[in-house]
Amino acid sequence: MLSKTKISKIELASYICNASGPSDSILEELEIIAKSDSSAIMMKSCTIKPRIGNPEPRYVHLPLGSIQSMGLPNLGYQKYIRFASQLKKYNKPIIASVAGLSIEDYRVMVEAFQKSEVNLIEVNLSCPNVEGKSQVAYDFEQTEKVLRVISNLGDIPLGLKLPAYFDFIHQKQMAQLILKYNISFITCINSVGNTLFIDPEKEMPVIKPKKGFGGLCGDYIKPIALANVRAFYELLDDKVSIFGVGGIKSGLDAFEFLIAGADAVQVATVFEKEGESCFTRINQELEEILKRKNYNSIQEAKGRLKHL
Ligand code: SIN
Repeated sequence: MLSKTKISKIELASYICNASGPSDSILEELEIIAKSDSSAIMMKSCTIKPRIGNPEPRYVHLPLGSIQSMGLPNLGYQKYIRFASQLKKYNKPIIASVAGLSIEDYRVMVEAFQKSEVNLIEVNLSCPNVEGKSQVAYDFEQTEKVLRVISNLGDIPLGLKLPAYFDFIHQKQMAQLILKYNISFITCINSVGNTLFIDPEKEMPVIKPKKGFGGLCGDYIKPIALANVRAFYELLDDKVSIFGVGGIKSGLDAFEFLIAGADAVQVATVFEKEGESCFTRINQELEEILKRKNYNSIQEAKGRLKHL
């Protein structure tokens, strides 16, 4: 497979896996991902206690993507630790995603997953959908407080799921923290938070939580995601692996993330819309592009974006 890759020290059989999102909360869903061509099993961002999440409608497909405000519905972190043991038999990297509601929550969950069967731990610092909670990664002091307590708890590589940044100074500040605390990988970007989609006939937003403000996903956010991947690729100097996320629905999209500097990509909206066959299709499309362009590996093409 031309598209095999690595995130930190963990090998992935292909460039594409699922993102933490709406179809990876229960064991049955995770087993569908395990049996698919997703190169890893990413689990839903979890909290200390189970959550039912936000009121419906909270996920709506849009012409070019989706808007959602799920509000972290999940079964609580202890369930995902058990799921990781049950999923081990599929011989595929398992990724935990933790979303604390306090610094102590992050510490407790990271410490627990460090003793579990997962291969990577993604620390979600960017959920925009919990009412009254701001996205941690937009507050660099708060981010540093979290990193101080989670960065030395074990050997399983730790990553950060980041929000979209729109100014180089913010990416630079975050990159300094990532390097200072030896973070192994980043995932960029989460949905673009607090956007508004209006149904003009009903004169209402399309989702209910937070008076309609929700995370935007899909094609709408691909250029923002690419820009963040590229900016961090340049700032982190290949010392930190990068998962690209945001609007990937074809091999060509994945290839754009590859030349921007992503080591692997995660997909959410296309998985929701198309089901697990999307992993096979996107991967085949990417392999064909790599062959056509005479690239022999992901490593060879990574970051090869030229300038005008
Ligand atoms: C959610 O459950 O609200 C989505 C998770 C996220 O945006 O991080």
